[in-house]
Formats: sequence, C-alpha cells, structure tokens
Amino acid sequence: MQIDREHVRKQFDQYTASYDLSDTKIRLKAEHTYRVAELCARIAESLSLPAEEADLAWLLGMLHDIGRFEQVRRYGTFTDAKSVDHAAFGADLLFREGLIRNFVSSEEEDGLIETAIRLHNAYLLPEDLSDRERMFSQILRDADKIDILRVNCEFSRQEIYNRPEEEFLTSEISEQVLQDALSMQNVLRAHRKTAADYIVSQISLTFGLVYDESRKIVLEQGYLERILDFDSRNPETAHRLQQIRSKVKQFLNKAEVPVSVEEMRRRDAATIAAGTPGKVLMRRAAEGIFKAWGEWPDGTLILCGSGNNGGDGFALAEILSEQKISCRILTLSDRRTEDAAYYEQRAARAGVPIQKYETGRAFEAPLIVDCLLGTGFQGEVREPYASAIRNINSARERGSRVISADINSGMNGDDGSGALVVQSDLTVTIGLMKTGFFTEAGKTHYKELTLAEIGII
Ligand SMILES: [Fe+2]
Repeated sequence: MQIDREHVRKQFDQYTASYDLSDTKIRLKAEHTYRVAELCARIAESLSLPAEEADLAWLLGMLHDIGRFEQVRRYGTFTDAKSVDHAAFGADLLFREGLIRNFVSSEEEDGLIETAIRLHNAYLLPEDLSDRERMFSQILRDADKIDILRVNCEFSRQEIYNRPEEEFLTSEISEQVLQDALSMQNVLRAHRKTAADYIVSQISLTFGLVYDESRKIVLEQGYLERILDFDSRNPETAHRLQQIRSKVKQFLNKAEVPVSVEEMRRRDAATIAAGTPGKVLMRRAAEGIFKAWGEWPDGTLILCGSGNNGGDGFALAEILSEQKISCRILTLSDRRTEDAAYYEQRAARAGVPIQKYETGRAFEAPLIVDCLLGTGFQGEVREPYASAIRNINSARERGSRVISADINSGMNGDDGSGALVVQSDLTVTIGLMKTGFFTEAGKTHYKELTLAEIGII
C-alpha cells in the first residue's frame, strides 16, 4: 500500500488544528506523535523491511495517539482510568467514524492498522496475532515507549503525577514493584502505590522493548540514564534503585545470557587483545562492585586471594579510600598477578591496612567482601582458603553482610557445585553471567546476583 507521508502530515496538522494547540498538553501529544512516527520508521528500517513497510510503520506512529486530542477535549484529562481507553477510542474514531480515509484511501491495511493502534497501550499482546500484526504492533509499542522515556524526563514528575517532589525523594519502593522490575517485567499498574513506584514504573518500560534497535536508541538518547540517576534520600529506596539499575543495564546490553568459564576466559582475552588493558578492566570491575552495593560501612573487610579476583579486591579498596570509607585487607597468599600487584600498591599508598590472614583466626566486620577464588578455581578448597571461607560464613551467621566478587569462592562457575562455598548476600559477577549461578546448586550460594558491566566484547 502506498503511503504519502506529506499528505498524512498535512491531514494530521489539519485534524489537530481544530484542537487548542496553545494548551501545552495538546501540543505535547502532537510532538510525541511526530517523534513516535520517526522512531517507528527507524526500527522498521533496522529490520530491513522494504520502504513501503517502513512507511506503514511510520503511519502507525502518526495515528497511534489520535484519540488523545478528543479525549482531552471531552474529558479534560489524559488519564484513561478517569475517562476512556485512549487506544480503543482512537481506533474507534479511525475505523468506526471513518477518520482513517482522511489519511489513506486504500482499505488494504485497515485490519492491521486498527489492531496495532488498539493494542499499543496493552500490558501484553494477545497470543493470537498473525506474525505481521505482531511485528507492527511491537514496532509501534517500542517506539512509543522510547519516546515516553523522553517525555518523562523533560517534564517534572510533580506535573506528570501531581505529587509533591518531597514524596518522590523520600518514599519507598513497594515490594511487588521491586519484584516486577527485578524480574525484568513492566511494573503492573495495580502494584504502584508510592511516588517512587511511579519512577520504577517509568524505568521498567525498558523491559518491554523487543528490538535491538530500540535498545540501541534508548542507550543513545540517554533519557533512561537520567531517570535512573534519580537521587532518593531514602536509603532503602537508593539500594533498591541500584538493584534495578543493574537489571536495566543487563537488559540493554544483553549481558544477561550466561556463559561458561572457558567462554568467559576467551572473551576476557579477546577484550584485552582488542586494546583494553587488564588493569582498566580490573578498575571497572571494582567500580561495578562498588556501585552494586548501596551503603558501604566503615570497617569493611576485603579478603584477597592470589589471582585476579584478589586484584578486584585491591582495586576496590582504593575506591573505598577515595570515597573516605575505611576498610582493611587480609591477603591469603604472597603470590600476585601483575595487575593485582599494581592495585595492591595503590591501595597501600592510599593508606589501606593490608595484612596476612592467619589461618583459623576469626574476624569481625559489618561487611566482608570475598575476593578469594575466582572462576579459575576447580576441585577442593585447600588451606588457608578453606578456613577463610568457613570464617566468612560464620561471621555472616553472626550478622555480617557478605559480597562475593565475580563468583562465590569455592563454587564451580560452570555447574554451581562446591563442597565449601562462601554464602553471600550479594554476588557481583564481572563482565558476563556465568552458567553456574543458575543451576539448583548454584542458586543456593547467593541471595542476590547482579552483573558489573566492564565492556567485554
Ligand atoms: Fe498512546
């Protein structure tokens, strides 16, 4: 079907001219329409659709919110719950009242256009769509979500949700909303209770994105980053936002797919060979661990083994001292990799106390970071590592919190097995997820699992 974009634009402008464009709300919807149309075309092109199909995707963008203008004129609100479902309303205007013929003369694609518009705001698409209906609906939904992120960013929260800023800054994230977001789902409307829930709900729109191009656009535009940077004054909310933030990053970067230890080693080496030095990766890993935990207490204890996992711990100690958080290090071995030795020196220079672990000697700390054994470990844990792992686990039973860097020490990265393994509150795995975390055995070692992006190729 031939679509004349110029004609469609003219018709759209003519249609909206009969509404009050001096009303900001109305003007915004007109702008949103044009942007969504361009995004639809871009996504369609990324899928190598022929020009006619890209035009059709563009047309969906131009028409998807056509119901908004009449909605706000009749009901004075964009809130569907207080007026009408704007998607169904728009589809009715187009196909029951015949408005569609102002835009395209052919009836050829009426069925598809109507379906995509009716479904553009549905929580989930129904199962019984044809492949083509599904694809066009998804393109439109992706484009709409991408631009909603911009709108949410460019307008104040108070205005959009009619709540005072203070409420956003201090409220909690509800449990169900957190669970929706951590399981990478759009937040269900019925779950939203607090002001902070609305922010998470905006963020979770990202999880509905289907196409690679959509994820790319979101990263490119940076609006999501700005919403994610929301600085809550409520410490629990700040911590929960951190968890959500890393989920969003995983989703956008597709780093969620777990790999074997061998694959990880290969990708690590390839990244270094392509020009990112190991020291840079180690610093990024440490930054990732730092960002993944909300509040770092003074007196944090870092346990470092002989490999690069220990190196992450030394690099982390340097970051903590930059942040004026006091910490100390216990080392399990005199051996170091080159990069680990580099960060050990820097930590020492920053004034971090570094001592040798005395086998069997118990330790106390509000927070313990486990950087003992990395993914290279296999088999049976030997001393002094075995006693250090036992000590970490008993300190945790007495109330210490435990973070494992990259992998819980003692665990096999491929299958999650291990006779003596560190039990963590949070495991921050580096670069890519490892398969071992998702086996029945692997899941028993950590309470929470997150990924630190370090730019692995
Ligand atoms: Fe809409």
